[in-house]
Amino acid sequence: MSVPTHIPVLLQETIEALAVQPGGRYIDCTLGAGGHAAAILDRSSPGGQLLGIDADPEAIRAARTRLEAYSSSILIANENFVDLEAICIKYDFLPVHGILFDLGLSSLQLNNRGRGFSFQHDAPLDMRLSPSQEVTAADIINTSSETELAHLIKTYGEEGSSYKIAHRVVQERPITTTLQLVRMIEQAVGRRRGRLHPATRTFQALRIAVNHELEHLEAALKQAINLLGCEGRLVVISYHSLEDRIVKQLMQQESKDCICPPDVPTCVCGHKAGLRLINKKVITPSPTEVQLNPRSRSAKLRAAESLITQDEYFRTAEEHRFSAQLNAEGWRRPALLKKLRVAFSML
Ligand SMILES: C[S@@+](CC[C@H](N)C(=O)[O-])C[C@H]1O[C@@H](n2cnc3c(N)ncnc32)[C@H](O)[C@@H]1O
Repeated sequence: MSVPTHIPVLLQETIEALAVQPGGRYIDCTLGAGGHAAAILDRSSPGGQLLGIDADPEAIRAARTRLEAYSSSILIANENFVDLEAICIKYDFLPVHGILFDLGLSSLQLNNRGRGFSFQHDAPLDMRLSPSQEVTAADIINTSSETELAHLIKTYGEEGSSYKIAHRVVQERPITTTLQLVRMIEQAVGRRRGRLHPATRTFQALRIAVNHELEHLEAALKQAINLLGCEGRLVVISYHSLEDRIVKQLMQQESKDCICPPDVPTCVCGHKAGLRLINKKVITPSPTEVQLNPRSRSAKLRAAESLITQDEYFRTAEEHRFSAQLNAEGWRRPALLKKLRVAFSML
């Protein structure tokens, strides 16, 4: 089977930010077509291990084919990264030297005409990452009130004409296909001139809502921080300002010893920094990369390193163990503790 191409974004910068080393253990939370994963596996050889996660079964199929040569070093999980901690426990894969999130969609998903992610092809308004999800974009479009729809398009799409679009859509429903929706948007706001297609922001908003992208990202990042071993690296590539804001704020907050409001004279929060920022300034693709791969143009990479000590990690691991008993079937304490000790001797 031939695998369609997705060009990994900021590839060299990602490998450097993760500080990939031979024998290291890494998680790619957004496996996609496996481009970043292959580079991590190459650089972590010999002895490196990778847990690759993707919510989309089609992405998983493509990655399995692409990464066949690495089958002895990779575990592939068709899961949503919102369950990151439980996934790591289920696969007995912690602590780790690095965790990567390369957010958004792959070219495979955008180019697949049947998925409804692109406003350039006619398709059912679906936009689910996984067929196991119940709510599609059509469900949201056809069942939300005009106010709810306007709010959603404004909040998740940062669309200035959200009320006009919602009004038009509600008048014309039911809307079941992508091009029907594009027509409604064009009728509401006109065919704008300039770089952005008038449907861009509404499609982004719907995709975020269907897949709970922002809530899942925030929840997963918090879990990821706790799964890193000593000096473990967290690297996130985001593609729009809403995602980047979550990443930036969380990394900045977790890299401070005190997060009290500025007008509080002495610290009352007791917060302790868990991360050190690797790049204070966000990393973006070079003009050459953007020219070669226009889809990289909005990418922003942020990276941080865990400040956790071995002692602290063991204490947190006890907490992981506790939640494991609640969340994952078949997990056994002695196996995990043995694995943790082996893993620590590697760190
Ligand atoms: C930009 S692509 C990753 C491409 C990959 N880095 C590569 O080099 O081929 C993002 C991938 O993340 C997956 N994804 C997005 N949100 C997810 C989530 N909450 N859980 C698991 N996978 C997710 C998408 O299905 C998609 O395949």
